[in-house]
Amino acid sequence: MKKTLIVFYSLDGNTRAAAEKLAGELGCDSAEIKTVKPMPKSTFAKLIVGGGQAAFNKLVPIEPLECDPKEYDLIVIGTPVWAGKCSAPVLSFIENCPVKERIEAVFTSSAGGDNDKCVALLKKRIPSIALSCALGDARGKHAGKNEENLAVFINELRKITVD
Ligand SMILES: Cc1cc2nc3c(=O)[nH]c(=O)nc-3n(C[C@H](O)[C@H](O)[C@H](O)COP(=O)(O)O)c2cc1C
Repeated sequence: MKKTLIVFYSLDGNTRAAAEKLAGELGCDSAEIKTVKPMPKSTFAKLIVGGGQAAFNKLVPIEPLECDPKEYDLIVIGTPVWAGKCSAPVLSFIENCPVKERIEAVFTSSAGGDNDKCVALLKKRIPSIALSCALGDARGKHAGKNEENLAVFINELRKITVD
């Protein structure tokens, strides 16, 4: 079995809920990326600050992870979609990840369906990504297939975690 780690960032809880479900089903570890500076609380300020960071591929300071990615064979990344891209905290993790080639799967959460665009950009950065899962914000209209999509993703992950 490949030792698997789920690394995720979540501002409003959607990606965290998916990460917890995945870790529970796969029986693997998970580690939440936390930023050194908190994001603003108001929706408008969040969109301006986070959207600007993501649009310009800005890296932000993040706390050290609770797990060492080097100790894992397979890394699954979870990110909210910001400005059609991966969130700045996740980009910051990826850019400094010493074992980037072990990232083989990604799940994304968006409000309006920008998951495919986000995954395509991530694949350019990380060619080892072979699996992806698109989720919708639970507060919006695009969450109807979340459970089904997660179940498919979990099955695919089970196949690649077996040696
Ligand atoms: C800064 C920011 C930028 C966003 N940009 C997009 C976007 O470009 N497209 C989209 O569909 N949703 C966008 N959203 C919505 C989030 O992707 C969506 O709410 C997601 O489910 C949040 O995940 P989380 O709860 O794990 O933080 C954005 C949200 C924020 C805070």
